[in-house]
Amino acid sequence: MSLMITTCGNSDNIARKVAKQLKAEFSPLTIATFPDGDLYLKFHKEPKGKTVVIIQSFQPSPDQSLFDVVFAAETAKDLGAKKVILAAPYLAYMRQDKRFHPGECISSRVMAKLLNNSIDKIITIDPHLHRYRSLKEIFTIPAVKLSANGLMGDYIKKHFSKEVIVGPDWESYQWAEEIAKHVQVHATVLKKTRFSSRHVEVKMIHPIEIKGKNAVIVDDIISTGHTIAEAAKDARKKGAKNIYAIGVHGLLVENAMEKLKKAGVTKVITTNCIEHPTNGIDITPLLVEALRKEK
Ligand code: R5P
Repeated sequence: MSLMITTCGNSDNIARKVAKQLKAEFSPLTIATFPDGDLYLKFHKEPKGKTVVIIQSFQPSPDQSLFDVVFAAETAKDLGAKKVILAAPYLAYMRQDKRFHPGECISSRVMAKLLNNSIDKIITIDPHLHRYRSLKEIFTIPAVKLSANGLMGDYIKKHFSKEVIVGPDWESYQWAEEIAKHVQVHATVLKKTRFSSRHVEVKMIHPIEIKGKNAVIVDDIISTGHTIAEAAKDARKKGAKNIYAIGVHGLLVENAMEKLKKAGVTKVITTNCIEHPTNGIDITPLLVEALRKEK
């Protein structure tokens, strides 16, 4: 079946590379707004009879991305596409996976419901699965979870020596442990207490020797940078030689970069799941492999 790769704008570079490597047609959409703010969307190539793959990271502008994807998927179907796949390197809203306070929206469920309605399959990379054990808990369509752990491990092997892997909170241990196994070094995890979205404190619960080592802090998401900054301060106190922060999804909002530098982080490295100047790890091969079977 012929494959058409498109994007709503956030993952243009990756979409182009994936299309090139799969020798598939690439045709980005035109997305604009009418003077009153209504969304305008246009396909430039015929989706009829094709599998349309929308490659779109949900950052920046998570709300707009969700809306754009739904409109794009519905339009592709309306124009005769056989199947619509969303490949979202970063899927937003996954952290709001319960009602933390009375009256709150469980945004991850609403996001999934909208996508379940409009697309036929979702592929994403290291989604924030914390209280959900699997994507199946919110998606009724086939949902594929890929992981950048191997690519992150390869990066660490290539660029660092005498390193220890630090997971800044219990949720991140799933990444830290697997990456440490891949690199064959020790890993530790910190216990994080979050007082608010901008105030967290950490404490090491599996103590290992950090003194004189290169501490590599790994996490799925680096957003405001608070979590990593607290872990970095702890590693600095324990005598780490250098401190590196590696994140799958570098949201790096507000003054995150400044905060991380102040906390003693030598370098921040992210994957290009979200395009950012800190990108050092390319996830294109993961999507190419996952989409090869759709050809
Ligand atoms: C949370 O559980 C995630 O794994 C990250 O640790 C968190 O989202 C990072 O957020 P921030 O950078 O704002 O501390």
